[in-house]
Amino acid sequence: MRLEALRREPSAYGSTYDDAVAWPDDFWQNRLAGGDSINLVAIVAGRMVGMVGALLAAPDDPSTAVVVGVYVAPAHRGRGIGRTMMEALLARLAERTEIASVRLSVNPDRIAARTLYTALGFQSVPNPEDEGSPMPTLRMERAVRLS
Ligand SMILES: CC(C)(COP(=O)(O)OP(=O)(O)OC[C@H]1O[C@@H](n2cnc3c(N)ncnc32)[C@H](O)[C@@H]1OP(=O)(O)O)[C@@H](O)C(=O)NCCC(=O)NCCS
Repeated sequence: MRLEALRREPSAYGSTYDDAVAWPDDFWQNRLAGGDSINLVAIVAGRMVGMVGALLAAPDDPSTAVVVGVYVAPAHRGRGIGRTMMEALLARLAERTEIASVRLSVNPDRIAARTLYTALGFQSVPNPEDEGSPMPTLRMERAVRLS
C-alpha cells in the first residue's frame, strides 16, 4: 500500500517510490514490529484500501508524534475512511501519556488532506526544515488531547 501511495501520489510524500521499492522486506518488518510507531490500515471487503501511521517521537521532540503515510485508494475516497483512520490514530496516541502533541507535514497543494487535517484541529505552524527549501511543505500541529 505504501508503494501504491508513492507511485500514485508522488507529490504527497517526503520519500519516493524509487527509494522505497529498494528498501528490503526486513526494513518494513522492523518498522511494523519495532514499537516506535503506530500503523493502522482500512480494510473494505477484505482488501486494504487505506493506511495511516505515526512515529511516536519526533527526532527533535520525544513528546511530539509525527503522522506519516496518510493514504486512501482513489476509488474509496470521500467516504469518511481518511477521517475515520485519522480519528482512530489520534485516539491511540491519546492513550500514551508521554505524547503531548502531534504534527505532520503536508504539500500545500493537497487540498483534501489539508482540509481533513484542519477539520481535525491541526493548525499551521512554522517549519524550520523549510528554510531555503525549493519545495516547502506545510507543517501542521495539534495537542493530542483537546480540552
Ligand atoms: C487525504 C485523503 C487521505 C483523504 O481521505 P478520504 O477518505 O477521501 O477523506 P474523508 O472521506 O474521510 O474526508 C474527510 C474530510 O477531508 C476533507 N476532504 C476529503 N476529500 C476532499 C476533497 N476532495 N476536497 C476538499 N476536502 C476534502 C473534508 O473535510 C472531509 O470531511 P467532510 O466529508 O465532512 O467534508 C485522500 O484524499 C488521499 O489519500 N489523498 C492522496 C494522498 C494524500 O494527499 N495524502 C496526504 C499526505 S500528507
